Parts: sequence; C-alpha cells; structure tokens
Amino acid sequence: MAEVIVVGSRSAAGALVAEAIERLVQQRPDAVLGLATGDTPLPVYRALAERVRAGLDLSRVRGFALDEYVGLPVTHPESYHAVIARQVTGPLGLEPAAVHVPDGRPLGIETAGERYEDAILAAGGVDLQLLGIGTDGHIGFNEPGSSFASLTRVKTLTRQTREDNARFFDDVEQVPVHSITQGLGTILRARRLVLLAFGRGKARAVAAAVEGPLTASVPASAIQLHPRATVVVDEEAAAELAELEYYRDAFAQKPIWDPIIL
Ligand code: F6R
Repeated sequence: MAEVIVVGSRSAAGALVAEAIERLVQQRPDAVLGLATGDTPLPVYRALAERVRAGLDLSRVRGFALDEYVGLPVTHPESYHAVIARQVTGPLGLEPAAVHVPDGRPLGIETAGERYEDAILAAGGVDLQLLGIGTDGHIGFNEPGSSFASLTRVKTLTRQTREDNARFFDDVEQVPVHSITQGLGTILRARRLVLLAFGRGKARAVAAAVEGPLTASVPASAIQLHPRATVVVDEEAAAELAELEYYRDAFAQKPIWDPIIL
C-alpha cells in the first residue's frame, strides 16, 4: 500500500517533498522528474525554488509533464507548456530543452502519445513522479474508466474536471474538451510516485485511491499497484481515510533507516 504522510500545512508538504527531491538530485544530478500542473504541486515548486536560491543546482535535471490540453496554443497562459515554463522551468533553473510537455497540437496528435512515450524511455524513465488528484479520482487526465495499462494518449475530459479547471479560464466553455495525458501504465513505470492532495474537496478521492478497491472507476487507485508510492495530505484531505491513526503511527514509528520518500 501507499505510505500516507499527514502534514500540518501545504508548505510543510512542499518542504518535505522538496527535501526528498534535493536528496535525489544529490545522488543523480540529471534525475528525471515527472511534473504535475494545477494548484497542488505549487508548494513543492516554491520550496524547491527557495532551495535553488540557496544554492541547489537543478540545471541538469530533466522533466516530463503529465499532460497538456489539446488545441490550446502553447502561447496561451493556461497551456501546460506555458504553466510549466512559468512555474517550474524558470524558477527552478531547469534547461528548457530538457523539460518536455506532451504535444497537444491537433496536427500530428495521432502520433503524439507514442512520441512522448519514446522520449520518456530515451531519458531512462521517470525517477520521481509528482501527482495531484482530481475530485473525480483522476491522476494526470486519466478520467474514470481509464485502463491501468494505458500509455500517453488523448482523453476526453469529464464535465466535472472541466468545471474544476474553469477557474483558470474565463468560463467552463473555454476549458478544452480534450487532453493528451500520460497513461496510468506510464505513471506506474516511474520509479517513485508522490501524490499530494490538500483540502476537504479531495478527501473522498484520496480515501478511494488509497483504501478503496482497485478500480478503473477511481484511476488514482492504480497507485496501490506501485511498490513505492507516497501520499502526502493535509488534515482536510486525510479526513475520510479509515486507517488514519495507523498511518500517523507508522510515520511516527518510521525507522531511521527508512528515509522519507527517498
Ligand atoms: C495536472 C494533472 C491533474 C491535477 C488534478 C488536480 O497536471 O495531471 O491530475 O493534478 O486535476 O488539480 P489541482 O491540483 O489543481 O487540484
């Protein structure tokens, strides 16, 4: 099962995960990070940016974003190309050419998934994959029903996801209908998974992902198949976990030879 770590705040989550990433980069300066967008990973990126300002060198780190909207020009401020450049590549001092985002341009979209998979394989795979979770249980844009074996491909967004993401656009009708996303099979190939979730609105999805049955109806339940998955949640997002006391206890009793995340 996933290790669940309950933290007091989003910034505490950011600090914890940033520290693990720093340790990874010390071991492997050209580590490959799997990058999520949305609000959830921001505390991690902020904490990493602080470490970079304090001297951490991430210039050799490579990155692969989880997903991109189909048909949204890369110049649109909410395209994930633009978001990753603004929130990750720039502040962390990554080399832009080493940071990849799926190609959501309609021309050539039929082969874009395969090209992305090839690029991930050529990079040697993802060392640490950051994940958020949708209120409908999606990871990446793998909406309910996605195959656990799926690879990068085009997915139609659910109405709920489009409504959740309408805050980044003028209104829900502006949210693209299609995305290109790493599949659940792609995500499961990463060597480590770190799923973050904050706020009461994520509590049901988190409980279903961590403790519910393995089911394509809750795509995030796929993390139960991964041998090294860590879930970092605040109290609100942890609220519906049945085994919460056990997770707290396990973390409090964590042996010193078992590092946090890495
Ligand atoms: C983003 C992504 C999505 C988000 C999820 C949660 O790259 O793949 O799965 O992680 O929709 O979004 P936020 O973090 O905005 O609540």
